[in-house]
Amino acid sequence: MTSAGKRRRASTGIEGLDKMLDGGLIPGRTYILMGDHGSGKSTLCGHFLMEGIKRGEEVLYVTIDAPPSDISTSFIGYGWDAGKITILNAHPRVRDYKARGSLIEVAAQRSVSTISEMSDKEKGNNQALVSPDLSLPSLQLMLQKEFESKAYDRLVIDSILSLRMLGAEEVQWEIGINSIFRLLAEEGLTTIIVSDIPKQYDNIRPEFILSRGIIRMNRLVVAGKTYRAISAQKMRGSGHDDQVRPVKITSHGITVEASKVLPPEVVTQLAMSFPKP
Ligand SMILES: Nc1ncnc2c1ncn2[C@@H]1O[C@H](COP(=O)(O)OP(=O)(O)OP(=O)(O)O)[C@@H](O)[C@H]1O
Ligand SMILES: [Mg+2]
Repeated sequence: MTSAGKRRRASTGIEGLDKMLDGGLIPGRTYILMGDHGSGKSTLCGHFLMEGIKRGEEVLYVTIDAPPSDISTSFIGYGWDAGKITILNAHPRVRDYKARGSLIEVAAQRSVSTISEMSDKEKGNNQALVSPDLSLPSLQLMLQKEFESKAYDRLVIDSILSLRMLGAEEVQWEIGINSIFRLLAEEGLTTIIVSDIPKQYDNIRPEFILSRGIIRMNRLVVAGKTYRAISAQKMRGSGHDDQVRPVKITSHGITVEASKVLPPEVVTQLAMSFPKP
């Protein structure tokens, strides 16, 4: 790739991953990040948003599976000055899993603040941090409202797992996903949507088909030792490393060892998992 081509990439903020992705993500596109629990998905997303901030961009983190305080604690734990990350809190309260509010109500209740504002609010026990119930259409409405008030360059949705578990019919899910992907394409944001890894007998998910690229993270234990790995499974319009590479998580965040390989027994175990990395 020419150096002009490389300049058009959105760096992930992780040097080794950028190397695997031929310079980074292609701006304006939507990517899926799927991975095991504890594999480092949210941390990777944090690097991606912090890189945007470094470049003077506006970045939005939609948290669904974890309360905003968990996210900020974890980012601060990595020593990041994450105060400029805007958080849209879509973390549903347990009792909201049953009763769905109206979309308008949900949109009106959306709660957005930067991490630095958030800690003040939390100290004052501000109710604005309590989130409404959530479904794909309500998430889309929240995003639309937020995009009306501010233009963003980078977006993370972490994650769509609990939305799927809330039991949308397959057809509704497909319509909802299509609609969100269309919105994101229109807005021209570079987006990472976090997901779990599908099981062998799951139907093919529409988000995997619609995404412009899929990054996969694994966490596995082999002979009593924990390994983390990353691979690029699909990258439309871009060359990419097709090897599985080792990942380390330290107090500074993620390091991807783009020129190293995992021990053969780890690669063998990964090759037996579904879908094959
Ligand atoms: N400050 C830190 N220093 C070293 N390791 C850390 C630190 N903070 C978190 N970790 C490690 O990073 C791991 C991955 O964290 P992360 O939250 O990014 O994973 P995840 O894939 O998003 O997990 P989940 O599926 O639970 O959302 C944690 O399980 C923990 O072992
Ligand atoms: Mg996470």
